[in-house]
Amino acid sequence: MRGWKEIPARQPLPRPPATEQAAAGDGPASARPAFTPREPLRTMSDLVVPRSVRDRIDLALSQVDNHEILYQHWNLKKIDPYRAGTALNFYGPSGTGKSLAAEAVASHRGQPFIEVSYAEIESRYVGDTPKNIEACFRQAAAHNAVLVFNEADSILGSRLSNVTQSADHSVNVSRAVMLSQLDAFGGLVVFTTNFPRNYDAAFVRRILVHVQFDLPDEATRHALWQALIPAELPRAEPLDLALLAASAAGLSGGDMVNVVKAAASLAVTRPGPARVLRAGDLLAEIAAVRQAKAEVGGYRGSRPS
Ligand SMILES: Nc1ncnc2c1ncn2[C@@H]1O[C@H](COP(=O)(O)OP(=O)(O)O)[C@@H](O)[C@H]1O
Ligand SMILES: [Mg+2]
Repeated sequence: MRGWKEIPARQPLPRPPATEQAAAGDGPASARPAFTPREPLRTMSDLVVPRSVRDRIDLALSQVDNHEILYQHWNLKKIDPYRAGTALNFYGPSGTGKSLAAEAVASHRGQPFIEVSYAEIESRYVGDTPKNIEACFRQAAAHNAVLVFNEADSILGSRLSNVTQSADHSVNVSRAVMLSQLDAFGGLVVFTTNFPRNYDAAFVRRILVHVQFDLPDEATRHALWQALIPAELPRAEPLDLALLAASAAGLSGGDMVNVVKAAASLAVTRPGPARVLRAGDLLAEIAAVRQAKAEVGGYRGSRPS
């Protein structure tokens, strides 16, 4: 298996051969996920988080950057034989920037990334789920990609101890395959989840650094508005970001993206000189998002975590 430093940063990504996808399972071709590597577009500077979270991510990055020295040259693998590669865990509420941070980690490493969701792994064809798991690790190794598992709690959940049905049995098989793949994989894996408590202890042990993401505090919301409202977006008057930050209590960065998109979409439909963003547009959308969150218990923003 290749170490992740062998491929220089920003190399154009090769397309996976069609046969590689076919190896992912026995079900119909349309049912098999491709696990295509992508170049990261976002960097650490796009991530708006409090100092404490940034420090934690920096710690994680320095451990990842120094992994080879620590484990190969300084022989930490002697006392910690699990870790062929490294795994990080980003946990916290939906829309707080966990997936963005995972992409930024890939960017920091100069590697492409492969994002995998539970739905892509889970197969209705018996026996295909373990093959899908193996396929995404194989793809990540072949492309020297950072492997990002979203909804990781569904994939790393506690193994069922009371196996009564064949479905439960196959869940346990999938998790065993996940563990062995993780142990063998020499690269970097990032897990993101809204429900970290569901993790199986065997997986928790294999994770190098856990980083907690929180809903943004007022200062962070202020910085988020600054980052999320493009300078090119025409506005009726300078926006009072302090007022917007105070008004958006309880919203995540992902919610704030939705507010900006909705407010801008409203503004662009107005005729003539009124075709500009008003503070009132943003405030109205903030109220709408807050109401949706309150009314729809399971509301998790526009993107899955
Ligand atoms: N901390 C943050 N800093 C910058 N942008 C953020 C942050 N949190 C959320 N966003 C914005 O919201 C979008 C959705 O966030 P995402 O990373 O998918 O959240 P999560 O994975 O935690 O559910 C991001 O792509 C980004 O545009
Ligand atoms: Mg996410």
